[in-house]
Amino acid sequence: MSSSTFSQATCTSITDESWNVKTVEFTIDDAENSFEFKAGQYVTVEFTIQGATHCRCYTVSSEPQGCGGVFTITVKHSVGGVVSTWLHRELAVGAKLGVSRATGDFHLSNDVVEPLLFIAGGVGITPLISMARAMRAAGLGRDTQFLQFARTPADLLFRDELLAMSKAHPEITPHFLVSRDADTNSINGRLNASTLDSMVPGWHLRSTYCCGPDSFMSDMRELFLGRGGQPGRYHQESFVLPAEVKAVPLITAERFTVSLALSKLDSVCLKGETLIDAVHAAPGGIKIPNACRSGVCGTCKLRKLSGEVDMQHNGGITEEEVDEGFVLACCSTPLSDVVLEY
Ligand SMILES: Cc1cc2nc3c(=O)[nH]c(=O)nc-3n(C[C@H](O)[C@H](O)[C@H](O)COP(=O)(O)OP(=O)(O)OC[C@H]3O[C@@H](n4cnc5c(N)ncnc54)[C@H](O)[C@@H]3O)c2cc1C
Ligand code: FES
Repeated sequence: MSSSTFSQATCTSITDESWNVKTVEFTIDDAENSFEFKAGQYVTVEFTIQGATHCRCYTVSSEPQGCGGVFTITVKHSVGGVVSTWLHRELAVGAKLGVSRATGDFHLSNDVVEPLLFIAGGVGITPLISMARAMRAAGLGRDTQFLQFARTPADLLFRDELLAMSKAHPEITPHFLVSRDADTNSINGRLNASTLDSMVPGWHLRSTYCCGPDSFMSDMRELFLGRGGQPGRYHQESFVLPAEVKAVPLITAERFTVSLALSKLDSVCLKGETLIDAVHAAPGGIKIPNACRSGVCGTCKLRKLSGEVDMQHNGGITEEEVDEGFVLACCSTPLSDVVLEY
């Protein structure tokens, strides 16, 4: 069975962070089911809305230390968005939702002690606030310049907490930049080289973590590399799922058998078809848990007992897991008959 099957969690509190952002706290119901994450990682949450299941990825915004199955996500209301609209309007304390294990490569390395530069655009602050909270909890005195960009002061997130954090831990320096109407503690400024030069001299020498809209991150990446920053010191996290991995056109008659050892199901899989599509198309109605269908979230991770696959993932599985024989069913196509542990 997959290690990434959803666990049931209860919504234990809902807090307004700004006019269009809420933080939701969850507690994993099964105390035996230990929930662990690294600051910066995300979970896939399963919502049932008007009878239909919708899965979305959300970064864990709380710190990992002593979490004991309790964690938060911080969600912006996307106008017209199915899940975020429901979460903002309908989700109530006591609701039960499915939550995947945490995954993702966007987290701080414990070995590196270089000065840090955090660049947040809008709700992209979530992995970075988790990292800052984790460093605070660990008592790490890492020199961290934390720049948050938002449209107006009303859109800034966690401002009071960051100011209090920097008072208690002067090694963390927050900067609040807004496109207009700056107030006390914030300044008008946009993401460009002169802003960075004036706020953080030598910014390109820092280990940099950036999260925000894709155009914002590509601007930051270009600035960083253009100034001579080392590519290995630049890290970013996108909230936009990559386009689904394109299936090879089904022009070949070559076909393989994909077997589920525990469910005792054999399904026909055409060359170029994904394992998950073949299983779902087979009679019997067996469904492999999935969310992003893009090789990102890790929800469809299963152990491969035999056979060869071509896996085109987007970060939802680690090299170690691949070495241990796991595959992502949503983005793996067979190169031979395959047996999965499910
Ligand atoms: C790794 C990862 C981490 C993430 N972390 C976070 C996080 O910490 N916080 C966060 O807020 N989000 C996060 N996201 C984004 C999140 O997963 C959702 O994509 C987001 O909440 C929108 O979901 P939705 O169901 O509301 O929108 P969807 O229904 O999926 O719609 C997608 C987009 O289309 C627009 N849209 C849809 N229908 C209409 C319509 N009728 N009219 C106009 N526009 C429309 C919506 O505004 C929305 O922006 C993360 C995503 C990833 C991949
Ligand atoms: S469903 Fe997300 S990685 Fe497969």
